[in-house]
Amino acid sequence: MLKVRVPATTANMGAGFDCFGMALNLYNEVAVEESDQFIIEGAADVPTTEENLIYQVIKQFYEEIGKPLPMLKLVQTDEIPMTRGLGSSSACIVAGLMVANELAGQPMTRDDLAQRACQIEGHPDNVAPAIYGGFVVAAMEDNQLHSVKIAPSDALSFITFIPDFQLSTEEARQILPQTYTKADAIFNISRASLFVASMISQNWDNLRVAVNDRIHQPYRGTLIPNMDKIFEYAQTEGAKGVFMSGAGPTIIAITPRANEINFANKMKQHLTQLENSWETKILHADVNGAQVVTERENINLLCR
Ligand code: HSE
Repeated sequence: MLKVRVPATTANMGAGFDCFGMALNLYNEVAVEESDQFIIEGAADVPTTEENLIYQVIKQFYEEIGKPLPMLKLVQTDEIPMTRGLGSSSACIVAGLMVANELAGQPMTRDDLAQRACQIEGHPDNVAPAIYGGFVVAAMEDNQLHSVKIAPSDALSFITFIPDFQLSTEEARQILPQTYTKADAIFNISRASLFVASMISQNWDNLRVAVNDRIHQPYRGTLIPNMDKIFEYAQTEGAKGVFMSGAGPTIIAITPRANEINFANKMKQHLTQLENSWETKILHADVNGAQVVTERENINLLCR
């Protein structure tokens, strides 16, 4: 049995569209064992046919290394809610790559896997932190990933508000304009730079401004009922910063860890006033990224 665990990720974090991401301590696990036929098990919303994303990634990996795909039973245990802006599909891509790499005898390094994951996903901001953990600043050039991992301070908590509705990344990308003004570009460059500097210096006073964005949040906010109200509640209750997680609809507020329970309780009271149901989770940064939690056994059997 081989078991791989991959963290949830929040991407963009305000102004860092398609280039900032951070791993969070909410996990998907996939357990793999030898079987005489392909079996995929998971919760009701997990595809159990060959459309399954983890299966697709494993299959493609084996095609590329030119080895026959072993018969496997995959069991998915998912904590990361799907289509909510917390990197569930990136977690599946990373899980598939980690599993395939382990089964095939580790032909790829972690950096190779990160490159591969970005090529599959198309943008690096979820897959890079899912692999490396921590806060990752990433850029793609000539289809190659360039990234830096910064260990986030454990003084911060990420209070995560997850609604009962989904928003597809495809829809949330389609709503964005094709061009932006110079003023909007300058607005985002300055905020994104301030965010990175604040994370490195651990000076949280600028975060409130550093998470502001004109590239995606104003457009996507039209798809998320009451987003503005939730931002306002969080700011009123003293959040250091509040932003849409990835392509939404989840919203995240940054608060000092010492105040996390008090803040979360106050937010829960506000959220009950809204028509949709919003779950509140107190999350922290994951610093390790994807991990093999149970070493493979019977590797010769699996790769026969
Ligand atoms: N950066 C991506 C986006 C994250 O905002 O569309 C979601 O995959």
